[in-house]
Amino acid sequence: VVVVVLAIVLGLTLTRYSDHLRSTVIGRCESFLKKHTDVSRVNDCERIWGAFEEAYVGKDPCEVPAEAYDPLISSVTQHVICGTMLFWSKTKALAHAFTDNRECLVTLEDTLLGFVFDELTWCSKNGSKETFTTDCPGWSECQNNPVRSFWIRASANFAATSCGNVSAMLNGSLESPFSSTSVFGSVEVKSLDPNKVDDLTILLVTKETDTTTCASSSFQSLRSALDPKIAYNCREVPYNRVENCISDPEIPCSDCL
Ligand code: APR
Repeated sequence: VVVVVLAIVLGLTLTRYSDHLRSTVIGRCESFLKKHTDVSRVNDCERIWGAFEEAYVGKDPCEVPAEAYDPLISSVTQHVICGTMLFWSKTKALAHAFTDNRECLVTLEDTLLGFVFDELTWCSKNGSKETFTTDCPGWSECQNNPVRSFWIRASANFAATSCGNVSAMLNGSLESPFSSTSVFGSVEVKSLDPNKVDDLTILLVTKETDTTTCASSSFQSLRSALDPKIAYNCREVPYNRVENCISDPEIPCSDCL
């Protein structure tokens, strides 16, 4: 009897984990589509969930390559306006606070795919039908883990579909704001299509006491990773000005960055 009860409790707990992720994903997807009516007709949240599960369910949590998310990428339809794509590295909170109340710039996490999966954790097991949201491999624990592979695939797609003048918000409080092993450095910069992207502008957000400038040697490696057909710009942007613009969405973007 004890074993049966334990099995039932365990079964219910596992189902609840999967159901919880499913309802979070579908819930976020639906609220995004409610707010962005331009894409609501062409996206189906249930279909997106199905394509998502297809990537990792039943697989060892260290054996999910980025390509496993190809069907998920194809299940989502969204076009970001040329010249509005904003990449970021080590500036997540600031970049998102900035784009939150503004339409001039759009991060991956402001698009349907990034919005739905932001800050979530998931994995399955070899031969399992379950989804787990705890005890999944950490970002660097193994290379092909479901969460890391998802962000690599989604970031590659966001960059590959970028066009016009794109920008990236980097952290001027760091000695090396550009890291060639970050997702921005290792995936996004290399996925920019020189036939579509005219230039990349680095927005180096700098506090008064920071010593790092656009002259930092870390930008040399950025320039060598960037296709030479894409023009490169770098601008130091005072942190205070960005903060000010975050607190007052009425200030035009052109006065902020
Ligand atoms: N360990 C743990 N988490 C990591 C690691 C790591 N080594 N690297 C990245 N992450 C996860 C974390 O969740 C972190 O908040 O990715 C997030 C961003 O990491 P950063 O190093 O700040 O930035 P970067 O790796 O360049 O990725 C950001 O990728 O998501 C896209 O379009 C987005 O331009 C953005 C870029």
